[in-house]
Amino acid sequence: MLPSDLTLLAIESSCDDTAAAVLKDGHVASSVVAAQRIHEGFGGVVPELASRAHQRLIVPTVEAALEEAKVDKHDLGAVAVTYGPGLAGSLLVGLSFAKALALGLDIPLIGVNHLEGHIYSVFIDEPHPSFPFLCLTVSGGHTLLTLVKEGFVHEELGRARDDAAGEAFDKVAKILGLGYPGGPEIDRLAASGDPTFRAFPSPRLPNKDHRKSYAFSFSGIKTNVLYFLRDLGETERKQMLDGHLPDIAASFQKTVVDALVGAIRDAVKETGVESVAIVGGVSANRGLRATAQAAADKDGFELFVPAFEHSVDNAAMIAVTGAFKLAAGQSSELTLAAEPALKL
Ligand code: KG4
Ligand code: ZN
Repeated sequence: MLPSDLTLLAIESSCDDTAAAVLKDGHVASSVVAAQRIHEGFGGVVPELASRAHQRLIVPTVEAALEEAKVDKHDLGAVAVTYGPGLAGSLLVGLSFAKALALGLDIPLIGVNHLEGHIYSVFIDEPHPSFPFLCLTVSGGHTLLTLVKEGFVHEELGRARDDAAGEAFDKVAKILGLGYPGGPEIDRLAASGDPTFRAFPSPRLPNKDHRKSYAFSFSGIKTNVLYFLRDLGETERKQMLDGHLPDIAASFQKTVVDALVGAIRDAVKETGVESVAIVGGVSANRGLRATAQAAADKDGFELFVPAFEHSVDNAAMIAVTGAFKLAAGQSSELTLAAEPALKL
C-alpha cells in the first residue's frame, strides 16, 4: 500500500520529541526519536525549553535517520513535516528545517497534520485495519474518537472538551507525588491496586438529544482526586498515600478506561463499523488494552493497537501519512505556516 518507488524524509517536532524517519522501498527504514529529558523536573513540557532543544537536536536526529536508512539526502524524493497542531515554537523548528531542505534539494514539501499522523500510524505495522475504521486517539495532547471512512475522509464523533486523557494521567500522577510523565507510573501501580477502592466521576459527558455522546471532560476527575486528598488533612493524607496509592491509581485508571472503552462500544454499535484502532501514548496503558480487547471479543469487533514506538509521538507516522498524501496528489507550498491549533 505504501509507494515503493519513493524515498521520503519525515520530521516531527510538535511537542517535546524531536523525531525523524525515512521511508524507503515501501517501508519505514528508520525512525529516530530524541526525547527531551529537560522537562522532567518541571512536571510538564516547558514550551520555551522545548523549542531550544529542537534547535539543538534537529540536525543530529535527521542525520541519524538518514544514516540508519543508508540514504543520502540527495536521494530524497520528498520531505514531510508536521505543521500543526502543537507548540508554535516547536513546530517552527521542524517546519523551517523541512522547508530549507525542500528548497535546497528541489523536492516536494508535504505538510502533515499531527492528528492525521496518529490515525495513519495504524498503517506502519501489520496487520492494519481497512477502511472504514473507528480510531480513538488518546495522547498527552488529544482525546478524539474519529470515524475514518476512507483515506483523508474523517468524521469526528467526539473529543475531550478540556484536558486530554494523557494529561489527566500526568496531572493525577503529579497530585499523587509521582514523576512525569505519570501515565506509565499509574499504569504500573494500578496493576496491584483495587479498582473498586473509590468511585470517581466518569469523564464521559452525558448524552444529548437521545444521541450517544462521545464527548469527554477529564478536568472533573482530576479535581476530584485533588479534593479527595486535600480534604483528608495531613496525617490521614499521608496514611492514605502510604497505604492505598495502588488502589487510588487503579480506581482512577478504571474510571478513565471504562469511559473510553464505553464510547468505543457505543460507536461500534451505532456505526456498525467493526474495526477499531487505538493510537497515541495512552494506548500503551495495559488496563486500556485489556479492557478494549475484552470488549472486542465480547462485541465481535477487531482491535488494532500499533507498536508502542509508533503510538507515542514519532516521525514514522508522519512519513506514512506524507507518502499517502503525495500519492493522492497533495503537497504544500513553501509558504506553509505552522498552525498550533490545527484541527483534524
Ligand atoms: O502520544 P504521546 O507520546 O504524546 C502526545 O502526542 O501527547 O503521549 C504521551 C502521553 C503522556 O500523557 C503519557 O503519560 C501517556 O501518553 N502515557 C500513558 C502510558 N504511557 C504513556 N498513559 C497511561 N498509561 C501508559 N502506560
Ligand atoms: Zn501526539
